[in-house]
Amino acid sequence: MQNKILLEDLDYIFNKLSDKEKDKFRDSTILFTGCGGFLGYYFMHFFAHYSDQLQIKKIIGLDNFLTGTRDWLETLNTNNEKIELKDFNVITDDIDNVTGAQEANLIIHGASIASPTFYRIYPEETIDANITGLRRMLDYYKTKSIKGFLFFSSSEIYGDPFPEFIPTKEDYRGNVATMGPRACYDEAKRFGETMCYIFHQKYNMPISIARPFNNYGPGMNINDKRLPADFAKAVHEGRDLVMYSDGKPTRTFCYISDAITGYLKVLLHGELDVFNIGIDKPEVSVAEFAELFAKNAKNVYDYQGSVVFDVSDDAEYMTDNPNRRCPNIDKARNILNYNPTIHVDEGIGRYLTFLKINNGQLL
Ligand SMILES: NC(=O)c1ccc[n+]([C@@H]2O[C@H](COP(=O)([O-])OP(=O)(O)OC[C@H]3O[C@@H](n4cnc5c(N)ncnc54)[C@H](O)[C@@H]3O)[C@@H](O)[C@H]2O)c1
Repeated sequence: MQNKILLEDLDYIFNKLSDKEKDKFRDSTILFTGCGGFLGYYFMHFFAHYSDQLQIKKIIGLDNFLTGTRDWLETLNTNNEKIELKDFNVITDDIDNVTGAQEANLIIHGASIASPTFYRIYPEETIDANITGLRRMLDYYKTKSIKGFLFFSSSEIYGDPFPEFIPTKEDYRGNVATMGPRACYDEAKRFGETMCYIFHQKYNMPISIARPFNNYGPGMNINDKRLPADFAKAVHEGRDLVMYSDGKPTRTFCYISDAITGYLKVLLHGELDVFNIGIDKPEVSVAEFAELFAKNAKNVYDYQGSVVFDVSDDAEYMTDNPNRRCPNIDKARNILNYNPTIHVDEGIGRYLTFLKINNGQLL
């Protein structure tokens, strides 16, 4: 784990946690589903790197590697005896067969397919990971003594909000299509939240829910097909940055270290609540985001490409794509002391520098 960007980011996350929050890791066994994905990359590196300092007992990582990658995980595992990895499908495999799962007291359910290209290829698997998979985890832990259970929902549960609901607060109920290419993801996340609510009501489980808003950065595989990954791949391969929309939709892009800080704070909150986790400014158009990639790529990669427009082969590429996505994060700021600081310009530079050092790979 020599990449200086990763090491600096882990340090940043550690320093953003309060002593009280850090203390909650003492003697914990953490179980993380979906550990081979983008967010898993930072979570697993963070837990591994600070396992002694935080006095974590064990870190169990589960993934069926439908879209995740395993080479970096195996290296992490070899270097840290507290990590247990298992090929595990949350939809069908029996958690009783996972050594140490009984003792886990901090649970993170991240298993899902998050990239729109892939959840449209695997809609049933996307629904099942978020509904059946979540249900099985909730059933297993409902009578066990746990300190926290984090469910990864999504900002997509808001759908395409009406302008007066942007920036979007947690109490906005959403404008979501029940039928369409994104519905398998959006509606599964919505129902997942309902299940969390029910299990809290019935079994008093300490469940907290994060609604992530557009994360990017190291750990995102360049073949992931989400926008930042596509741009990073083009830069790495020296190709032009191709946009398959008019470039007008806007987003606020939250760098991975800020996002992970937020998720840890939500997990450690340990009681039923839901939080937007992202960054509230700047809200940039996709075209501006591409220009920021090109600018940073010139510095980091001596990149000579430019931003071009094209039409996607995928007829559904833009269907139900929200026009604006911007969170109101006051709730997380006030209750969790969450305070993201990495500007999108800096974050893109960090992502590209990470990839340059690692030659485009995660390992
Ligand atoms: N990254 C973001 O910006 C973002 C935004 C909104 C929501 N989320 C949510 O956060 C979570 C993690 O996101 P990510 O970006 O790391 O996603 P990812 O797609 O990179 O990783 C998810 C991982 O889950 C695994 N997985 C899928 N189905 C599984 C199954 N049935 N059993 C076991 N493992 C399975 C995949 O193989 C993959 O490694 C997901 O639930 C996602 O929906 C992320």
